[in-house]
Amino acid sequence: MPGIGGSRLGPLGTRIRKTTEQKGLIMIDSAVEKYLSANQERFLEELCEYLRFPSVSAQPHHASDMRACADWLAAHCQKMGLEVECCPTAGNPIVLARTPRTKGSRKPHFVVYGHYDVQPPEPLELWQSPPFEPQVDGDRLRARGSSDNKGQHFAHLKAVEAYLRTGKELPCDLTFLVEGEEEVGCTHLGDFLRRRRRDLRCEAIVISDTGMPSPKHPALTYALRGIAAMEVVVTGPDRDLHSGIFGGSVDNPAMVLCELMAHLRDAKGRITVPGFYEGVRNLKGFEREQIARLPFTESKEARFLGVKQMRGEQGFSFLEQRSARPTCEINGLTSGYQGEGSKTIIPSWARAKLTFRLVPDQSPDQVIRRVTAHLKKVCPPTVRLEVIPGHGGAPYLLDPRGPLAQASLRALRESFRCEPILLREGGSIPIVNEFKRLLGVDSLLLGLALPDANAHSPNETMSLNLFRKGMRMAAVLWPELAAAAQK
Ligand code: BES
Ligand code: ZN
Repeated sequence: MPGIGGSRLGPLGTRIRKTTEQKGLIMIDSAVEKYLSANQERFLEELCEYLRFPSVSAQPHHASDMRACADWLAAHCQKMGLEVECCPTAGNPIVLARTPRTKGSRKPHFVVYGHYDVQPPEPLELWQSPPFEPQVDGDRLRARGSSDNKGQHFAHLKAVEAYLRTGKELPCDLTFLVEGEEEVGCTHLGDFLRRRRRDLRCEAIVISDTGMPSPKHPALTYALRGIAAMEVVVTGPDRDLHSGIFGGSVDNPAMVLCELMAHLRDAKGRITVPGFYEGVRNLKGFEREQIARLPFTESKEARFLGVKQMRGEQGFSFLEQRSARPTCEINGLTSGYQGEGSKTIIPSWARAKLTFRLVPDQSPDQVIRRVTAHLKKVCPPTVRLEVIPGHGGAPYLLDPRGPLAQASLRALRESFRCEPILLREGGSIPIVNEFKRLLGVDSLLLGLALPDANAHSPNETMSLNLFRKGMRMAAVLWPELAAAAQK
């Protein structure tokens, strides 16, 4: 790190001179800071309470847990001094919590988005402690949802609590919007945004639901991949058949499905669906520079992931492959006998769950159409093929030169005391494009999850250090963003 008062190269090659203190920029209020440090233990206990709800949106038997979790969050926000609405939808409720508005004041307004739903915790036997019984282990808090996403938006809530309880005036109005269907494609949030467009009119959306490469690399994520999900069903004989009596004369749906899946990608790792790459943008010079700053090497990454070697589309580094290139993944494959021992059958059917990750400017609908046409073309006439479209979300790209993005970078720099990075990430948050389309605003993605947080895997964790730093970042953010919005 260069010394104080030195000059160094920041995101987009801008020269950063002097420290923020010397430049007279807005600093964290000392009463707010004191409140945050004095209440750390309670914050952790409250987060644990929140994490005890098994709010798994993908599994219908958790419907009442979803409601209980939303109710708990709404009550918690109310206790904090926010004005709360727990809004029913055709799916899981959406919690809206607003900072009290002062009559006549015209402050800028920001929406903080988060999701209280979590991914299924299975396989349970791989957890070191039960997924919905949070455990502290050194710097880590282990529980499903700890970093994706309860811990991250909870840090924002606690920063606002610090303002409210110390009487420090917030320089902007805030609305927390916490939904319960992000992990299943934000099913009902689009409609909600349309209905509540006026209440949600704002300068930008702030989201902490992404990653940072290390505690020394706070990040503004300026691009997310989109997603197109589908299920492919191959049906053959109208019942399972004896594979000795009939095998060799009837097509096996499991084998056909494997052939179809093999038709999706070539030996160079390129997707073979005609037209798939149409609209895919090349990386810009500054993007390559930012990727080069990341603290990863291919061999270390392979060790970390427990694979023999990394593999992806030829001609791109593994960091480019996982963030700036589109992909196809089989997420689940089911057919035939899965129990103990063997059973000699030709299964009647086979199914695959697929998701394609998309990059600007691919469109989920078009990808689903193209993949369906391709599979229909290569499928033999001996089986029935059904392609069932699933959820979709467009890719997202923000211009990081904008004033609000730059203000976020200042907040990251000030709170983490190191140079932030601009990140393209491979994950998807389908609603960010709807925010843009329906509300006309950008999303500022300021993630607090480390690469080894095990999001969607067994033993998900949140770093307690980042939980604390996240609260500080959230406290510093509002003066920076409000000032930038008023310029
Ligand atoms: N928090 C993630 C998204 C994410 C993670 C973005 C890491 C960037 C870096 C979010 O909860 C998530 O998992 N989204 C799903 C969306 C899908 C189910 C539609 C995803 O990306 O698989
Ligand atoms: Zn997730």
